[in-house]
Amino acid sequence: MSKTVSAVFGALSDGKTITKYIMENKNGMLVSVLDYGAHVQSIQLPRENGGKLEVTVGFDDADGFEHRSNYQGAIAGPYANRIGGGRFEIDGVGYELDKNEKKVTTLHGCGEYTHTLWDASVSDDGAVTFRYVRPDGLHGYPGAIDARVTYSLGDDDRLSIRYDCVSDKKTYINPTNHTYFNLAGFDSGDILSHTLQLNASRFTPVDEYSIPTGGSLPVEGTPMDFTSPSVIGDRIDADFEQLRLTGGYDHNFCIDGADGALRLAATARSEATGVRMNVYTTLPGVQFYAGNFLNGGVGREGKPMNRRCGFCLETQYYPDTPNRPEFPSCLFDAGEHYRSETVYAFSGE
Ligand code: BGC
Repeated sequence: MSKTVSAVFGALSDGKTITKYIMENKNGMLVSVLDYGAHVQSIQLPRENGGKLEVTVGFDDADGFEHRSNYQGAIAGPYANRIGGGRFEIDGVGYELDKNEKKVTTLHGCGEYTHTLWDASVSDDGAVTFRYVRPDGLHGYPGAIDARVTYSLGDDDRLSIRYDCVSDKKTYINPTNHTYFNLAGFDSGDILSHTLQLNASRFTPVDEYSIPTGGSLPVEGTPMDFTSPSVIGDRIDADFEQLRLTGGYDHNFCIDGADGALRLAATARSEATGVRMNVYTTLPGVQFYAGNFLNGGVGREGKPMNRRCGFCLETQYYPDTPNRPEFPSCLFDAGEHYRSETVYAFSGE
């Protein structure tokens, strides 16, 4: 339940207005979301001293979201993460997608969901629903998918993101939210001293294009093991091939026991502030991305977003699922609904 108000956030280069929806719960926690890209623009946690702690790394201006984005806060889709070779088949029909990464792979649906103005509505309990119906075939991707993303903020400091998508054609559906978090505050430096626990005893190894090579590997005995709380920075630069290939953590972890019910996937904590974030999801995977590719671009309050100043826990079907029959399937029939929920739950001092 939140009190939700809207305000003009800014303008896109074509003159269209971006509207921001600010949800506030009874504790004074604030979550702001935008109709542009259905972004999470800001999460502010109330502090004992009466101030607020901004725990997302991103932008406070329209230009940032439009032109300087590495998906900060974005909804990515219709297929988040990567599709190898930018192609797949459905029922023997081949689809060639635009390849927006190194001209070899398709990443985050070519930014389609991220750089679109969504329709917005606010319900009586303060939840904000964004809706976008994509044209069939855009970027080579099949299906006129009708997508709805609903953000709601509970009085228990849980931010829930619910997705409901349905296509007019059989297709793959795999949206995610790509918020970068820094639980010590957006301008506190890198996230290497955070601790992280992942409910994942396996991960999907990748090649030099970050495309899964097939199957999954146990994390046990490797720097990928976060089954107990571990400091992110302790092993991020370990001499381990999977970390060398990606320049640090940037992998899909297979959530243990995933069965479609909401379950704990990850817990992150800042030792500096004591803020803890639990991530629950109904999905089978979570991409732990340590912000390795951030390179000093201008972010909130004009501050640089340096390498590893934020981390993402992107809940998802596994990357390149359309080309990996051994992975849990996200192929949906015409008229069949894709539904998922992910919750970011905050607690601490
Ligand atoms: C990917 C990273 C990529 C980032 C921003 C993450 O989902 O795994 O490799 O750099 O998104 O595009």
